[in-house]
Amino acid sequence: MTQTEMPRTILTLLFLVITARLDEAQKSHECENVATSQEGLFDNPERLKILLKVFEKHIEMEKLNITLHFLENPIRPNVQISEAARIIAYYLEESCEENNWVHGKKVLELGAGLGFPGIVAACLGGNVTVTDRPQIVPYLQRSIDLNIETIQKISGEIRVEVLSWGDDEKIRSMPRQDIILLSEAIYDDLTIDDLISTMVRLSHDDTKIIVSEGDWIEMEESELKEAWTKFFHESSEYFEFSPLPIGNYDCFTFEGKVRKTSNTEEKTSESSPGHTEF
Ligand SMILES: *[C@@H]1O[C@H](CO)[C@@H](O)[C@H](O)[C@H]1NC(C)=O
Ligand SMILES: *[C@@H]1O[C@H](CO)[C@@H](O)[C@H](O)[C@H]1NC(C)=O
Repeated sequence: MTQTEMPRTILTLLFLVITARLDEAQKSHECENVATSQEGLFDNPERLKILLKVFEKHIEMEKLNITLHFLENPIRPNVQISEAARIIAYYLEESCEENNWVHGKKVLELGAGLGFPGIVAACLGGNVTVTDRPQIVPYLQRSIDLNIETIQKISGEIRVEVLSWGDDEKIRSMPRQDIILLSEAIYDDLTIDDLISTMVRLSHDDTKIIVSEGDWIEMEESELKEAWTKFFHESSEYFEFSPLPIGNYDCFTFEGKVRKTSNTEEKTSESSPGHTEF
């Protein structure tokens, strides 16, 4: 360990401790109290603020001429900006440069985490709903709060909602969407059926789906790979996916369209897509 690495390591460990504490505190909305109670360890709250800067991400979107702000949580992978989220965000920005196909469209991000792609869609003038499980929603809300001025300047609309896949009552209350975004959302074999039924029920004939996943899915014998395979296998009854030609990234990115053959009865049906053996 070199001399410069040493303090970094110690700082990183301290960050982890603080973030874990902040995380707990946030649940009971005592964030500020906890920040000041760390004084003994970190002298003062100002210093703590400086330490926490390490987890701030300021992402420039060149074509949109904006900078977006996020606060990552280093101990929760789904509260970080993933490569897959970056790819969708940049893809939206780039592909809308000539012909903005997001403007005025209803956009839904599922399993949004910090909501980077959804926020970019709102900055492109989309009418966006970013969703995640209840325990992630506070982080998602913080991302929106950090960027709301930029979004509103561009006249986009965005809202955060709790959506657990397969929650019939919630899904029934939501409108069908023009664009559905999924980044690093496919991770668990057990949630795939609910995810697909949620997508089917929130899409219409012309809904476009963008899905991106890190290349870890290539790992042999990985459960994640199984989930990914299952997702494509079972969703192929409803959606037709084709790879998006996005180079230089360690991700698999696909665009999905609703199969014209899937009939309306299926789409409005309350039941989830059937299991298929393979
Ligand atoms: C980018 O935005 C800044 C203000 O945020 C503005 O001053 C500048 O003129 C903009 N640049 C372009 C090329 O629109
Ligand atoms: C945006 O979507 C929300 C919820 O789906 C809806 O209430 C609102 O009217 C929409 N806004 C526009 C401008 O269409």
